[in-house]
Amino acid sequence: MSIVFHQRSREFHLYNDSISYIIRILPNDQLGQLYFGKRIHDREDFGHLLEFANRPMTAVLQDYGFSLEHVRQEYPAYGTTDFRLPALEILQEDGSRLTCFSYKSHRIVKGKPGLYGLPATYVENDKEADTLEITLEDQWLDMEMVLLYTIFNGEDAIARSVKFVNHGNKTVQVTRAMSLSLDLPDCQYDWIQFSGAWSRERQVKTRRLEQGIQAVSSQRGHSSHNHNPFIVLKRPGADEFQGEVMGFSLVYSGNFLAQAEVDTYDVTRVMLGINPFAFSWKLEKGEQFQTPEAVMVYSRQGLNGMSQTFHRLYRTRLARGVWRDKVRPILLNNWEATYFDFDEDKLVDIARAAKEDGVELFVLDDGWFGSRSSDSSGLGDWYANTDRLPGGIKGLSEKIEALGMKFGLWVELEMVNPDSDLYRQHPDWALQTPGRTPSQGRNQLVLDFSRAEVVDHIYNMIEKILSESRVSYIKWDMNRSITECYSGAYPADRQGEIFHRYILGVYSLYERLIKHFPEILFESCASGGARFDAGMLYYAPQCWTSDDSDAVERIKIQYGTSFGYPVVSMGAHVSAVPNHQLCRYTPLETRGNVACFGAFGYELDLSKLSDEERETVRRQIAFMKEYRQVIQFGTFYRLKSPFEDNIAAWMAVSADKKKAVVGYYKILNDVNCQFRRLRLDGLDPDARYEVEGMDNWFYGDELMSGGLVTTDASAGQASMDDFCTDFWSRLYVLNAKEDEREW
Ligand code: DGJ
Repeated sequence: MSIVFHQRSREFHLYNDSISYIIRILPNDQLGQLYFGKRIHDREDFGHLLEFANRPMTAVLQDYGFSLEHVRQEYPAYGTTDFRLPALEILQEDGSRLTCFSYKSHRIVKGKPGLYGLPATYVENDKEADTLEITLEDQWLDMEMVLLYTIFNGEDAIARSVKFVNHGNKTVQVTRAMSLSLDLPDCQYDWIQFSGAWSRERQVKTRRLEQGIQAVSSQRGHSSHNHNPFIVLKRPGADEFQGEVMGFSLVYSGNFLAQAEVDTYDVTRVMLGINPFAFSWKLEKGEQFQTPEAVMVYSRQGLNGMSQTFHRLYRTRLARGVWRDKVRPILLNNWEATYFDFDEDKLVDIARAAKEDGVELFVLDDGWFGSRSSDSSGLGDWYANTDRLPGGIKGLSEKIEALGMKFGLWVELEMVNPDSDLYRQHPDWALQTPGRTPSQGRNQLVLDFSRAEVVDHIYNMIEKILSESRVSYIKWDMNRSITECYSGAYPADRQGEIFHRYILGVYSLYERLIKHFPEILFESCASGGARFDAGMLYYAPQCWTSDDSDAVERIKIQYGTSFGYPVVSMGAHVSAVPNHQLCRYTPLETRGNVACFGAFGYELDLSKLSDEERETVRRQIAFMKEYRQVIQFGTFYRLKSPFEDNIAAWMAVSADKKKAVVGYYKILNDVNCQFRRLRLDGLDPDARYEVEGMDNWFYGDELMSGGLVTTDASAGQASMDDFCTDFWSRLYVLNAKEDEREW
């Protein structure tokens, strides 16, 4: 792995064993982008990749005779001859927005520096990565801009971010500051975005890149159900298993913009960063602004190759803490079992039944605090309701632990109901615009987390509960978007900072809590999956994937989520039928077979199930305990997309390739259908695998090239003894045998 600076050509070549990234200092001292892709030989001069031809109707830099409009740039500004949308924009006191940042110096350092107050990937020793810091300056403004690039050893990934420092006497407003900008020489790509809405998050949407702008964004104060701060460009011929793919992921949980602008010469400019909408950041002399981090991944092994890089990197070098490498406890959450209708006895009964079946962690969801008996009051009053829980959280958590389980608790710390003691005492602590009536979402307002005293107050309340009780897990919810983003604590010319300051406040509260309670497992949540982003994974290594717990919908949601995020990060629970979001009946086996590809749990009262169903639950739990290491920490492959077919499949393979679990899901049953095979992936081609439930063995290569025979009972005359149904599924468990004598 290396970062090389070639003095004569003034080129930087960042490379590891498989990828290369090349930047050149242009004749006018701005930065040009030469290459991102598969590793190529280093050489002194890649100048031939830069073309300066002057075309009609261009504006030309007078001293240099070329136009930036036709140069692929590294971190472009508007004006000074480029007309495409820029990576940065700085509003100056005289009203000008033009900037001209030129190369000043650079530094190559071992390892990876952290980003203060922001989530970011990290390394555990300096050998894991190298970092290039290029400092550019705008002499007229007396400002510096530092571009940071970290290339990882052994991961096909580059992490980027940008820092602005104002040394000048004049105040400026940074109104656009992308984390990443990348100019690609052509536009022969499919653009993939992960979009949806509440209960149908991260559906895979694919379209060809076209001249013009394609973008997804959030203006909601969180990354959102609607779009995700993660996009993919793939060559049209690439698929899950082969071909060239690039993934772009923002390590951030607030408003974002992900965009590709294709100009009319078919050059593609990819950008990712804080959404410039409603954003500005004032910099006075001596102040600086740091963008969030963005990570770009390159794969020649198709979409699965890209996802596996993100999975490894985010699982091991973004997620932190004692839970990072541990299999996750099988939990039962009482939300869909009781909603707000519970008292301590009922909860203990539910927990007892769960314990009997092998559940390890009982989670108390919404409704335990203040005057909360519905969603119209209580948020902000983080002390237990002793009418419902006479011994408080302390008493209940001790009772749960006495059953032999761990105890977990739901919170929604960023919110306040107008009907709460907190709001009555501090009405000015909610985000709201002076003179206007604030909107409510789920009867609640958003606390002004841009103010340190608000965050401190919430911290003190929750710290007390956690210190005096036996809490091993926290589900941190967030149930409304921000529409009136105004803070009474900041002057008019800093209101554009509030969305970002809000999320920095959220990060600071997380940081304090995980530092003070390092043993607690945090699961993030925002009405299900409205904040499933890389930023959150730095604080909470798992996230409630969606409020939709229907197994069929979950196949799509988990499939889409897996493009950018590891299996172990996806909270996935078995719930009751009829399902509470879709009223759909699905077999209990299928509910388990979908949920087991995630951080597994239950979302129902197990004591209400029949004996036969309880037996199934016990089998599921025993299975999960045996295979969660493979599923949660193995290599994950998407095999068949639920967005394209009636059959979906995925699999996880252990690092040593000796064990694999395949999830196979048939949405609607069919009759007299084809004989079916499913090509597996990631196995050892020479190993012999036993497939549980099949009285034969198979070589890895035949399973990967010929396929596993998955023909089911529907291929012939249906029989009531051996039948499939709608929403049928099956797990195939593969074990490699080392000793030939065993055969
Ligand atoms: C939304 C979450 O996604 C649900 O799981 C549940 O915790 C409710 N909030 C509680 O209000």
